[in-house]
Amino acid sequence: MAFVVTENCIKCKYTDCVDVCPVDCFYEGPNFLVIHPDECIDCALCEPECPANAIFEEDDVPVDQREFIQLNAELAEIWPNISEMKAAPADADDWNGKADKKKLLER
Ligand code: SF4
Ligand code: F3S
Repeated sequence: MAFVVTENCIKCKYTDCVDVCPVDCFYEGPNFLVIHPDECIDCALCEPECPANAIFEEDDVPVDQREFIQLNAELAEIWPNISEMKAAPADADDWNGKADKKKLLER
């Protein structure tokens, strides 16, 4: 079991989640973050910190977001680790809550 970053993180990438993770298991792509499922210790600290409400415990990932479980596992293997919070994109708030962002995911 692990926590999973889902679609609403795309182009928001606030990184508040990174600041609280005790095991530094977040990995960073150009406009999205993922959690390494084998490193996450299920502490749940990151979930309430995300201003985009993009983080879910694996069993609670909404049905239309289930593909992000595999996507987190896959991308965590190739993206670099991120252990410190950084400034969000200038237009992050404009993208918070927008539908259909999956196609905008950059790898
Ligand atoms: Fe890190 Fe805990 Fe969130 Fe897992 S649940 S990603 S260990 S803060
Ligand atoms: Fe993304 Fe939320 Fe973290 S928007 S970077 S999962 S704080």
